[in-house]
This record gives sequence, structure tokens and C-alpha cells, in this order.
Amino acid sequence: MNHIAPVPVLTIDGPSGSGKGTVSRRVAEHLGWRLLDSGALYRAVGYAAGAAGLDLTDAEAVTRCAQSTKIRFQASADGGDTRILVNGHDATDELRTETAGAAASAIASIAAVRQALVDLQLGFRKSPGLVADGRDMGTVIFPDAPFKVFLTASAAERAKRRYKQLKEKGLNVTLASLQREIEARDHRDASRAVAPLKPAPEAVLVDSTGMRIDQVVARVLAVVQPQ
Ligand code: C5P
Repeated sequence: MNHIAPVPVLTIDGPSGSGKGTVSRRVAEHLGWRLLDSGALYRAVGYAAGAAGLDLTDAEAVTRCAQSTKIRFQASADGGDTRILVNGHDATDELRTETAGAAASAIASIAAVRQALVDLQLGFRKSPGLVADGRDMGTVIFPDAPFKVFLTASAAERAKRRYKQLKEKGLNVTLASLQREIEARDHRDASRAVAPLKPAPEAVLVDSTGMRIDQVVARVLAVVQPQ
């Protein structure tokens, strides 16, 4: 029989601030694979729903919004960060804020919203491979992925990292409020009924507390390319 090998996927799931975003991007660059930032999709829907003045707890309205929102990732003209277009508007900067993260987390607990984003995510699986960053990449979206990582770090360390990132972007936040928000979001993501944040049974657990980013990248690459 003539089997076509499925396109390989490396799933990197974990809580916010675990370093998933940076690690996923660097690992994808190193492997020459595509990158799916699934959190950006939830942020985009939360943003679109907010911009339309919807009540984020109105499951039907937010689901219709998720089904109709056009989300596009576009390489930036100056070689910088990938731009994210939401219904044609470059919302990259707005999507990075804590407000957008909280809105994403709220609408992400609606099962029909998650369903509306499934095909879009599956479409990222193209040759030569995909690095998929999120909460349910290894458990729900790509359960057959040959490589799975669950990346964590302590809440205190994650709050510190996020604080540094946001400060560098000139945003005005306090460390204590960030840690509280991170813990609240973790709790909501891990305790929701649909696609809760949890490691796939076969995922390799990587705790990045106290590790430098290049050490984490090397550790994750070793899952795909064992020495
Ligand atoms: O990863 P990021 O912080 O951008 O994700 C924002 C929110 O989107 C998360 O807090 C989570 O609620 C939701 N999310 C999700 N499933 C994913 C990715 C993100 O529920 N695969």
C-alpha cells in the first residue's frame, strides 16, 4: 500500500507566560516549519466581539461573531512581527493587551466558538511541518501529533516575564495585578468544561522556571530531533 506520511506537528501547550509564544516561534524558525498562534485567534474573536459591542457572555452572538470574523496572519513588510488582521483591520497591537487576553479567555469557554475555529486551525497543517502553540493543541486539535510538549513555569515567574514584556512596550501595569490576572486566567482555562488546559498524557513536560529561553528552545527541539 502507498501511504502518504501525515505532515508532522509539534504541539506546545501551556499557560500564559510560560514562554510558549517565543519558544514556538524560535522552534518553528529553526525547523523551517509553519507556526500556528492559536491564542491569537481567540484574542481576535474577543476583540471583534468587543468592537461590535457584544456581551461576551452571550454565547449565540459571540458564536456568530466567531463564524463571521475574518482573521488573517500577514508577514510584516519590514520583516518585524507577523501582523494580525481582524476583518481587514491591523489589530496586532490591540491583541497583545491584557484586556484582549481576558476577553479571549472569556469567549474561549464557549464550545461553539471553539468549534468555529477548528477548520481554520487544521488548515495550518502544511508541509514541511507545523508548530502549534495553544492550550488544546495536543489534546483536541491535533491529537495525532507525533510531538507534544507541555510548557509551564511558576505563576510568579510568568508574571515577572509578562511584566517585563509589557513594560518594554510602554504599557502601564503592576506586577501584583499581573500575577492576579494570570492566576485568574489559569484557573478559568484549567477549570472550563470544554477543552480545559491540561497536558496530553503523552506530552513531554517542560518547566521553564529559572531556564533561559535558548535552553528551553534546545529542550523542545530535542523532542523533535532526539540526539
Ligand atoms: O495564548 P494566549 O495568551 O494568546 O491565549 C489567550 C486566551 O485564549 C487564553 O487565556 C485561553 O483562554 C484562550 N486559548 C484557548 N485555546 C487555545 C489558545 C488560547 O482557549 N488553543
